[in-house]
Amino acid sequence: MITKQWSMTDKLDMTNIEEATYLLRSGEIVAFPTETVYGLGADATNERAVKKIFQAKGRPADNPLIVHVATKEQVANLVEHIPSYVEILMEHFSPGPITYVLKSNGKVASAVTGGLDTVGVRIPNHPVALQLLQTCNIPLAAPSANVSGKPSPTSADHVAYDMDGKIAGIIDGGPSKNGLESTVVDCTKEVPVILRLGGISANQIESVVGAVDVLTQTSAQHTPKSPGLKYKHYAPEVPLTLLIRQANNAQQFIDKKKKKGLKVGILWCGKLQRVFQPVEKVIHLGDNEKEIAKNLYASLRSFKKGDVDSIICIVPSTNDIGQVVIDRLQRAATEIY
Ligand code: TXA
Ligand code: MG
Repeated sequence: MITKQWSMTDKLDMTNIEEATYLLRSGEIVAFPTETVYGLGADATNERAVKKIFQAKGRPADNPLIVHVATKEQVANLVEHIPSYVEILMEHFSPGPITYVLKSNGKVASAVTGGLDTVGVRIPNHPVALQLLQTCNIPLAAPSANVSGKPSPTSADHVAYDMDGKIAGIIDGGPSKNGLESTVVDCTKEVPVILRLGGISANQIESVVGAVDVLTQTSAQHTPKSPGLKYKHYAPEVPLTLLIRQANNAQQFIDKKKKKGLKVGILWCGKLQRVFQPVEKVIHLGDNEKEIAKNLYASLRSFKKGDVDSIICIVPSTNDIGQVVIDRLQRAATEIY
């Protein structure tokens, strides 16, 4: 299959939006930009179209997809009931990086929900995504547009690297503004429960609705409420060693890898205070949470097999990094010290 590419980095192009709409309405897959990461979109009401997403990504069938819509009314169209705290959350944070898990009314294809009776719905805050959703006028199931297990794509090039030849089209909307995925919130309980940390923090949610729970990783392993949590995620091409408590001993870790004859890449978060020798590649992720979030996945993807054999990621202080980045690094890592 030839994968079409449309560039909409500067302004919306309605001819391209209509071409993408035609393909989506015909049951094809089109990747599109959102404010978080790029999504791999298909008609959420078309079982066969949705199955193509799982195939293109190599995604396990029991890991449900997020459905994207343009308006709050369209959220209501897909679910049995909207609790009053969700109305409040939507007023504050939608469109934006938050996904509401609600009881499905059965309108989306069963492949979307991976056999669950709930559906995750999100209104993305991106002009191209919103225009595409409006023009299509169908809900679009869209996971992150990466091959399963790899870092999410934050540019159209990342999508093409993983998906060229496998999908009908890619809309280039420039680099993703946020760089990390949406917060997934279970809204089927009296109190919202965060299943995946993301763009909207627990504090932000608590500040508008008064209470929030966060599903910890250990409790998630016992009861995989968000099925995605049990799978490997965000892995770069070569193994990543994450140094948090041992950040001060980074040189020792480098020396150990070097003794084994390995080529070492360094990924550094926060203030760059020391230069490590000898290594093959060094990337400074940034000094603050926003910068680091935006650069994280592109940086993980830039370490290529052959150039380096091992990545050492150094986090000198978790204070300036943010909880979400730490969460993603922990999932990307093969070892943590
Ligand atoms: O920012 C984002 O959320 C991006 C953009 C494209 O919107 N999408 C994204 O989708 O990250 P994906 O498929 O990579 O991650 C969706 C997560 C998975 O962990 C999945 O298990 C969870 O959301 N999820 C989806 N529907 C769910 C449901 N009904 N119940 C529990 N968890 C659900
Ligand atoms: Mg993903």
